[in-house]
Amino acid sequence: MRTTVGIIGAGPAGLLLARLLHNAGIDSVVLESRDRDYVERRQRAGILEQGTADVLRAAGAGQRMDREGLRHDGIELRFDRRRHRVDFPALTGGRSVMVYAQTEVCKDLIALQLAEGGPLLFEAEALAVEDAGTDTPRVRFRHEGREDVLECAYVVGCDGFWGVARKAIPAELVQVFERTYPFGWLGILADVPPSHDELVYARHDRGFALLSMRSPAVSRLYLQVPDGTDAEAWSDEEIWDELERRFETADDWRLERGPITQKSVTPMRSYVHEPMRHGRLFLAGDAAHIVPPTGAKGLNLAVGDVVTFARALTHQRDTGSPELLDAYSQTCLRRVWQAERFSYDMTTLLHRTPDASPFDDRLQLARLERIASSRAAETDLAEGYTGFPFG
Ligand code: FAD
Ligand code: DHB
Repeated sequence: MRTTVGIIGAGPAGLLLARLLHNAGIDSVVLESRDRDYVERRQRAGILEQGTADVLRAAGAGQRMDREGLRHDGIELRFDRRRHRVDFPALTGGRSVMVYAQTEVCKDLIALQLAEGGPLLFEAEALAVEDAGTDTPRVRFRHEGREDVLECAYVVGCDGFWGVARKAIPAELVQVFERTYPFGWLGILADVPPSHDELVYARHDRGFALLSMRSPAVSRLYLQVPDGTDAEAWSDEEIWDELERRFETADDWRLERGPITQKSVTPMRSYVHEPMRHGRLFLAGDAAHIVPPTGAKGLNLAVGDVVTFARALTHQRDTGSPELLDAYSQTCLRRVWQAERFSYDMTTLLHRTPDASPFDDRLQLARLERIASSRAAETDLAEGYTGFPFG
């Protein structure tokens, strides 16, 4: 099998890249190790930056998002039983975000790819990328019980944190920057209308909590839990009780409860793999970097990477100049590190570490107080949340 761009992974990065290349008249093949149902159901991100929503629209993948997605013009910060709303458009010259789940983005892109695009093979597991440093890189993969080879002009590893692509970059060329956190998120989906019309980020002495949503009828909520927590160790009632404590306000706000339909624990990590390119192998999305989820940057970063790659490859085709492809890693990493900084700041602003001292607690409250009382500090948060420009 032969193609121009071999794409490993059909998460948001791989699927959007295939669509952008298709629109530019460049052929690709997508290899995805899981089945379609799994990819379409995996509960993860929920918030699209304005730039991400604009890219999906321009790619012809925004119709259902514009019908069913919820535009959000702000978030609420909750601390010390107080509430503070951050108004995005007022602080950023009109920017906002979109609540539209990753599952739905993937469903829309899969349907488009199968109807109009190049091959998208499910249950096709990439085993290795070979000859990345040459003009003829190859992906060895297993599909329907057989081993096969995909010969490419370029390979893009969109295979997430646990993928194989980045292993093809020689270790002596690689620098990894990493930080783990001594806590994770217990996330639930519940069949109950969200108790607030915008997301609520709560800092509490018992730990962080987040109120989000998937639709006007479905709530998505998260609780900070100790590292290694088993989701099943929490009963539904314990989860609601704890959420209620952490969201408590001095006014008469109430948390509505409903049937919990899913629960799982996500570990938290910051991770950057440099460089994001070796020869004709390019890394995009979680394959190259992870942010802790606070502030919802992961999917949006993946979108920035593939937009940068598609633009660079189109430029090379149209002008013959490899300039943008050569700058790929640098261009992406500038934005990646801004998102790493933002996600780290949001995480340390709102989570309580197990060894937090009273001094740490007071500092956290002072940081929140600063955001609530200074337009400059609040603007910095609003700009980061609504998104940094693509390359
Ligand atoms: P992935 O989505 O991980 O996709 C990689 C794909 O590659 C997978 O389908 C995998 O099956 C496939 N694959 C792996 N290995 C192979 C192989 N060897 N061969 C073939 N295929 C392979 N981000 C946000 O922007 N906003 C949010 O609100 C947000 N909330 C989050 C909440 C949670 C609980 C979690 C866990 C994450 C959240 N994120 C959020 C992060 C976001 O989900 C990820 O950053 C995003 O999925 C990255 O997309 P990706 O395509 O790079 O990788
Ligand atoms: C969601 C996830 C996040 O990490 C976040 O900061 C906001 C919302 C969500 O899954 O809805």
